Amino acid sequence: MGEGVGGRGHRRPHLHRDPADVVRALEASRDEDSFLKAVVAYHLIGEGSIGRANQNFVAAQFDRVGSFPGLREAQRLAVRDEVRHIGIGVSYARRRLTRDGARARALIEEIVEGFQALGDSLLEHAAPGLLDDFVGAYGAEPATLWAEVLRQLRLRLRSIGLSHVGRESS
Ligand SMILES: [Fe+2]
Repeated sequence: MGEGVGGRGHRRPHLHRDPADVVRALEASRDEDSFLKAVVAYHLIGEGSIGRANQNFVAAQFDRVGSFPGLREAQRLAVRDEVRHIGIGVSYARRRLTRDGARARALIEEIVEGFQALGDSLLEHAAPGLLDDFVGAYGAEPATLWAEVLRQLRLRLRSIGLSHVGRESS
């Protein structure tokens, strides 16, 4: 995730929220709500949705290009490691939902909806040249990758007990 594109001059900045900005906000405020939002942004969205989607597409690229047993093994170990990190986020979010109920749910919804709006906006405004770069790197168009990110996100949300947060389909 690079520079945040959301929020500049927007009246409702949380609607286009870059997860990296949510994590960075911890530098200034270290209250529990900021912590929950950062955990959701980092572990559930960054690692759990974007990371897992990328890993799936990259793994498919290995199959296309050659056998690469060393890379494949490294990839397997990296995914195993990431799944543990995602688990840390899932455990924490679940605990906060149990303890804080509607308040925790609203905070998670805010981050999820902001991220979905950001992704939709990036997709809509993607430079035409980006399409070829994307297909070259991932073997898929941006819309396909984004749909997989959203699918992974729904799986992570379901694992913390939120089946109806965010969009149902992309
Ligand atoms: Fe990680």
